[in-house]
Amino acid sequence: MKKVVISVLASGLFLACGPQERVSKETIEEVNENMEIKKLTEVEILDEAMIWGDSITSEAQKQLITNLQKAIEDKGVPGAIEFCNVQALPILSDLSQKYKVEIRRTSNRYRNPADQPTEEEKPLLEAYEYNAEAGVKSDPNIQKFEGGEVFLYTKPIVIPNGMCLSCHGEPGKEINKETLEKLTKLYPNDRATGHKVGDLRGMWSVRIPKKEVVKRL
Ligand code: HEC
Repeated sequence: MKKVVISVLASGLFLACGPQERVSKETIEEVNENMEIKKLTEVEILDEAMIWGDSITSEAQKQLITNLQKAIEDKGVPGAIEFCNVQALPILSDLSQKYKVEIRRTSNRYRNPADQPTEEEKPLLEAYEYNAEAGVKSDPNIQKFEGGEVFLYTKPIVIPNGMCLSCHGEPGKEINKETLEKLTKLYPNDRATGHKVGDLRGMWSVRIPKKEVVKRL
């Protein structure tokens, strides 16, 4: 079982709050009751949140990559940009609804401005960037928010292979002219080019209500 790592770097986060809905008093009471009935410890719940976060992000990644590969086969790289532009966010929101969590990809070198980090995500992303610069591999992480009623699972997104570079690599080199024109039109302030294989591209972020984790145990 994977160990839950709560990084010292980000320990100030417990006080931070995001734009998300607050957890009600009734929910907290319901969670406490369920925990008692099932005699769960906090560590068991954190471990389960970590395992679930891993599996949700793997599923999301698989869906995005399978669909992206199909779009490239059918329409070529420039045509597949429309797939990412139109489909990437809805695929994540469908999965979010299915599991009653909030799944996002975020990056400081974002293409879609909707993927900018939130206040909760910023320090975690910065810790991953810091490690990447130092050549240290980052592990997934769990942080608690809203008095421990919400977990934020995060995991680095690293560029795995050259396929990504046809849209995130060097303009004029890996990104061809037609692709670049489409990207510039759709994303005039695109920051997501110039990457190499092995680069940190961003981070998965999943907000998981404790209530949903307790239900799984
Ligand atoms: C066909 C072009 C294309 C390819 C190939 C591609 N991407 Fe993207 N990528 C995009 C577009 C377009 C967006 C913006 C999506 C949106 O508007 O929601 C994006 C967004 C992202 C984001 C979200 C953060 C941001 O910058 O907005 C991540 C993370 C990402 N891509 C990683 C990858 C990885 C990893 C690969 C390789 C497995 C890859 N991409 C391959 C076009 C591509």
